[in-house]
Amino acid sequence: MLAGRHILLIIGGGIAAYKALDLIRRLRDAGAEVTPVMTRAAAEFVTPLSVGALAGREVITELFDLSQEAKMGHIELSRAADLIVVAPATANLMAKMAAGLADDMASTLLLATDKRVLLAPAMNVRMWGHPATRRNREVLEGDGILFVGPDEGPMACGEFGPGRLAEVPAIVAAVGAALADGPLKGRHVLVTSGPTHEPIDPVRYIANRSSGAQGAAIADALAGLGAEVTFITGPAEVPPPGGVKVVRVETAAQMLAAAEAALPADAAICAAAVADWRVAEASGQKMKKEAGGLPDLRLVENPDILARLSTPGPQRPRLVVGFAAETERVAEHAAAKRQRKVCDWILANDVSPGTGIMGGTENAVTLITAEGAEDWPRMSKRQVAQRLAMKLAEALATGSGASGGSI
Ligand code: C5P
Repeated sequence: MLAGRHILLIIGGGIAAYKALDLIRRLRDAGAEVTPVMTRAAAEFVTPLSVGALAGREVITELFDLSQEAKMGHIELSRAADLIVVAPATANLMAKMAAGLADDMASTLLLATDKRVLLAPAMNVRMWGHPATRRNREVLEGDGILFVGPDEGPMACGEFGPGRLAEVPAIVAAVGAALADGPLKGRHVLVTSGPTHEPIDPVRYIANRSSGAQGAAIADALAGLGAEVTFITGPAEVPPPGGVKVVRVETAAQMLAAAEAALPADAAICAAAVADWRVAEASGQKMKKEAGGLPDLRLVENPDILARLSTPGPQRPRLVVGFAAETERVAEHAAAKRQRKVCDWILANDVSPGTGIMGGTENAVTLITAEGAEDWPRMSKRQVAQRLAMKLAEALATGSGASGGSI
């Protein structure tokens, strides 16, 4: 699966560094060539001798090692790989990357590279949850850095929670996805996902119950087929998948601005549950209960992102897909919505109470296109995402129709 691919593996200094040995073995089993780089701290946890023996090549450690620099300079090294993997990625390495520091070989390679970078973080649960690490993660995601894990579970330090290195097979799979030569390679797809929060005042907002599960699964499936995905998400419960460019927003207006800024795109999938209304004049100060009477919460309509992206013009993605959550006459209402919003496809679903779809893990959809309606059997949201991603790849490959066309 990774035959002929060259991976530069940066091993950070954490207790999970020993798992990098297994990772090297599995990457090589999958056909990859692995050039290992160790930070000074990593060498305290595993020996360069074992790493080098498993990789079948010399380990790179120091920036100012003249003999190594003479063989292959750090700039060249950072560009020769197909992918850079950092496992374990420590809080310190993440902070250095977010700040653009380059004070040792590992951080210099990370700053000098023009290749995709996949991080497998591993650290104590409180370090992972610290606002500084959260901030750094957001910065790195915004830079297009890919993430796999961390997992949740018991940790070497005796605590429990998120911070464990992702399982080695999951890291290998993420490497495969990051290098995917899938049918969507070279395509840019934007996905909106999650709810939006519309402020009433600095502490209150209007929201909805969308978990963001379907949107995250779609983004993941598209990335798995090799697409470059811009994932624009409101404050969702479900975390964004690895391998996509994440743009976090709060309001519908921000989501629209982010979607327009992400253009051009080959396709757009609007899976977000955008609030239909916002408070016309959100208060700059917390509204006081005793200020006399009830607050004036005049609502105004939010922009319709799906309709805006579907508007014919040079920037219109070739394929624009929307969702329609209906409780009755699903196909009929969804077909009308498709025409009203001028989008190409609508995935309609019945969210009446009793279907268990809203907030559940399964979905039963009908795909509405210009050609008619296609009922999909009830399946997991992940399977819906995979089927949609495959269908989208097929449509873009056959290249038929743009706005209102035969796609
Ligand atoms: O009109 P309705 O909200 O039922 O349409 C649902 C579809 O439109 C979804 O694809 C949703 O992401 C999109 N939408 C949008 N912006 C809005 C409202 C809905 O993109 N303001």
